[in-house]
Amino acid sequence: MNNFDFQNPTKILFGKGQIEKLSNEIPEGAKVLLLFGGGSIKKNGIYEQVSKALSNFDVIEFGGIPANPEYEVLMEALDIIKAEKITFLLAVGGGSVIDGAKFLSAAALYDGDEPWDILTKNKRTIKGMPFGTVLTLPATGSEMNSGAVITRKETKEKFGMGGPGLFPQFSILDPEVVKSIPQRQLANGLADSFTHVLEQYMTYSVEATLQDRFAESILQTIIEVAPAIIKDPSDYKAASNFMWSCTMALNGLIQKGVPSDWAVHAMGHELTALFGIDHARTLAVITPSHYKYNFEAKKEKLAQYAERVWNITEGSTDDKAYAAIEKTTEFFHSLGIETKLSDYTKEYEGTAEEIAKRFTDRGWLGLGEHQSLSPDKVEKIVKMAY
Ligand code: NZQ
Ligand code: ZN
Repeated sequence: MNNFDFQNPTKILFGKGQIEKLSNEIPEGAKVLLLFGGGSIKKNGIYEQVSKALSNFDVIEFGGIPANPEYEVLMEALDIIKAEKITFLLAVGGGSVIDGAKFLSAAALYDGDEPWDILTKNKRTIKGMPFGTVLTLPATGSEMNSGAVITRKETKEKFGMGGPGLFPQFSILDPEVVKSIPQRQLANGLADSFTHVLEQYMTYSVEATLQDRFAESILQTIIEVAPAIIKDPSDYKAASNFMWSCTMALNGLIQKGVPSDWAVHAMGHELTALFGIDHARTLAVITPSHYKYNFEAKKEKLAQYAERVWNITEGSTDDKAYAAIEKTTEFFHSLGIETKLSDYTKEYEGTAEEIAKRFTDRGWLGLGEHQSLSPDKVEKIVKMAY
């Protein structure tokens, strides 16, 4: 096992009725900016619950943060934060709204001229404006981590950011919010969280037995709850296990002491930036090709995953590893998620070259757990995913 430091300061309030406790978590006298997305919270009762819980606070609202939170929109919110002397941010939404809040938390205290630099120049946030979240969509894990991904539509770019100052102070996880989530987003949440585990697991062994078993147990739980949640999102037992799995998949715990990959996400973000494909679906497009292309480097772990998660016990290491890639692809299909770029766009010619060029220009010359995935290899993987 590799050395590690681990600190996760986010307080979790999990379960039915926890939104009521919101007022206990926000500092007294705070001036709150309530951030939300395109309006789902006004149709499913979450807005009413949050408003009631905030009745003793001075609150200004900012809605309209789109999926794949956009820089231009967030800059409007930043103006409000400054003009209204906001002291606390509350994100009520999925990964997009929470990531938007993280960007604003960083930008509100940023002393440079152009907040976009936080993203392009890798400015880590050591101290941000305090914020909390009410999660409405299990998927990203953003509710308990310190990362965010922000999009700039005008340049078709999507970049990550983060830093120890960007953990939410608290996150409220009420699985009852799941019942209003549309099928497409339920499938996305299952596929995204599943891939988060894979990114931190499908590398090479460092004999980190406990981390491997944590990862495998999250994968097994997601596979187990997926049919139930797709069939009936108001099934509280399935919804609660789904929600906690998504959080645990990306709150830092399973990544400690082990190598991680994250190349699938790096390539996937480009597909969202270029074509607007949902984040989770880009991962389903890239994952099978990535594992096939890097088969030799990953096959021991793929075979372990085949045995322990998919119960594939027959055959050689190669056979099991290959079967595991097939099973993963079938799992995405079982969620109604297509796994080829051509399923999403007919304009895919030239995409692989464009992504390879972008990575070269940015100096991203070695992705993956061995820092060996150079832009020419990225080009081949993306082509395999056409
Ligand atoms: O905008 P509203 O009207 O609220 O509707 C949203 C949105 O259209 C809807 N929704 C959310 N909760 C709902 C609901 N509809 C009905 N009932 C509810 N309870 O779902 C749609 C998608 O929401 P979004 O927040 O975009 O989805 P998700 O949570 O999948 O977030 C995706 C974003 O997170 C980033 C992605 O790149 C993408 O930009 N990620 C963030 C990560 C992180 N911070 O750690 C890691 C991930 O890998 C990912 O990159
Ligand atoms: Zn993801």
